[in-house]
Amino acid sequence: CGIVGIVGNEPVAGRLVDALKRLEYRGYDSAGVATIDHGVLDRRRAEGKLYNLEHKLAGDPLPGTTGIAHTRWATHGIPNETNAHPHFVDGVAVVHNGIIENFSEIRDELLADGATFASQTDTEVVAQLLAKYTREGLSHRDAMLKMLNRVTGAYALVVMFQDDPDTIMGALFGPPLAIGWGKGEMFIGSDAIALAPFTNEITYLLDGDCAILTKTGAEIIDHAGKPVARQRQITQAAAFMVDKGNHRHFMEKEIHEQPEVISHALSHYVDFTTNKVTTQPGIDFAAVRSLAISACGTAYLAGLTGKYWFERYARLPVEIDVASEFRYREMPLSPDQAALFISQSGETADTLASLRYCKAEGLKIGAVVNVKESTIARESDAVFPILAGPEIGVASTKAFTCQLAVLAALSVAAGRARGTVSEAEEIALVKSLIEMPRIMNRVLNAVQPQIENLARDLSRYKDVLYLGRGTSYPLALEGALKLKEISYIHAEGYAAGELKHGPIALIDENMPVIVIAPHDRFFEKTISNMQEVAARGGKIIFITDEKGAAASKLATMATIVLPNVDEIIAPMVFALPIQLLAYHTAVFMGTDVDQPRNLAKSVTVE
Ligand code: G6P
Repeated sequence: CGIVGIVGNEPVAGRLVDALKRLEYRGYDSAGVATIDHGVLDRRRAEGKLYNLEHKLAGDPLPGTTGIAHTRWATHGIPNETNAHPHFVDGVAVVHNGIIENFSEIRDELLADGATFASQTDTEVVAQLLAKYTREGLSHRDAMLKMLNRVTGAYALVVMFQDDPDTIMGALFGPPLAIGWGKGEMFIGSDAIALAPFTNEITYLLDGDCAILTKTGAEIIDHAGKPVARQRQITQAAAFMVDKGNHRHFMEKEIHEQPEVISHALSHYVDFTTNKVTTQPGIDFAAVRSLAISACGTAYLAGLTGKYWFERYARLPVEIDVASEFRYREMPLSPDQAALFISQSGETADTLASLRYCKAEGLKIGAVVNVKESTIARESDAVFPILAGPEIGVASTKAFTCQLAVLAALSVAAGRARGTVSEAEEIALVKSLIEMPRIMNRVLNAVQPQIENLARDLSRYKDVLYLGRGTSYPLALEGALKLKEISYIHAEGYAAGELKHGPIALIDENMPVIVIAPHDRFFEKTISNMQEVAARGGKIIFITDEKGAAASKLATMATIVLPNVDEIIAPMVFALPIQLLAYHTAVFMGTDVDQPRNLAKSVTVE
């Protein structure tokens, strides 16, 4: 969810909605805004996308110079208007991101006490508690502290009280919250991007902080009421304002940006004149015994590809898991290991929890992130930025390939440090990486028309299977993930060798099988699996290179032929047709490509 609040001098509703637009990537099930005007607390809320709220406000404006707003990604309670934030109880207004874990216990207690609840959300207990404590005679500040000591879980909260129109309070434990310093007005929000048009002076709050904002400044205290000092900093977020250019969707724009952003990312990790990796401070790969990698979603699949590279080039054993499992596995770890966390946003709750677990075990922590100011970056020993620029489409594309490019370069650097990659090998590998943006550009232009046609055919099917081996295996998983998340066609990715252990039972003419097979060490093996599909009447979409196309005689529904490329860059180059196929299939089916149903770009809850 996304949160924003303003204590100001001019009407705030419009500015709050503008800020919500920049937070829409955090969720878009419903949205709401509340203000205080002449002692009256009022709100507008709407189910669905933000424009529904905008329409409502246009017909029924909300005056007031102090306000809070929220865009929701539902956790407790369906995404209808009643469950939309802000929640009101007796003159208290609350917006919340996260989960109050002990909400049902508090709710039962309050119900027994005679309270009546208007929504099914966990958030409402916060408003109920604040109302109860103020009724009992506590000041707003003390009520806030008492409430914070009562609730457990992960939260970023922003609240205001009807009888104090010049104050907003915020608190966090888990999901991020930042204060923006204005001139005669103050702001609070989920990130610096939300606050960018208002101010570039930001203070990031830390877990356990409670901030009390008035027009002239902010006081930051802990749960005991003791003042804490937090730095003010200037952010670059304003430079991140983005639009679609002449593309239909952000996703399309981001797919086409890849050659450029990858080149930019690479320039940070390799030297284009000497063809060598550049030294990255933070983790001494020569000194570590093994590497643990953890991430979620597409970032996890980048990590899974990284595992192949670190093991092959650096001979470094890699333990990898999705962060929601990693954090609870009680994996034995020791300080002679290092850990890498991969996250576009740098805010994903499970990834952050895995990081903290490793940190507590004494491991050196590296973060592969897109947002350099994010919590994951701030808590790491070494930050490896992917420099993809803001990614707005919920389905990750350019962040994925930039994560891959950075992991590839890091694995070569680790190989050099560990003496498992020779200087000559380093130069050859880096040369391939440097060549990649040019090849990606060629591929994007060449395959587009064929893929658009193919997407039309693909959109008629209900199930699709993706197969790959080696680094094409994580890509098969990513292909299936991309297709299902934006087109809603059921898709599964499998290691090609696993076909005969289950999914082969599903093969018939109604389930196309997308085989990702560059002409690499595994090619012959994958072709055997493809034959097993063909023998059972399966329809094959073959994504290969020129050598691979020449070597296979099997009939296919379509063959997408990419240029022959070195093995290390194949995952990035082969990612392109996979992204385009998912994109065009979704466009053809008319789904909301940039904001697919039920998903959110940044998931700050477990
Ligand atoms: C969400 C997004 C995915 C993303 C994942 C991890 O599920 O929809 O695109 O891969 O979170 O996000 P992160 O910001 O940690 O990379």
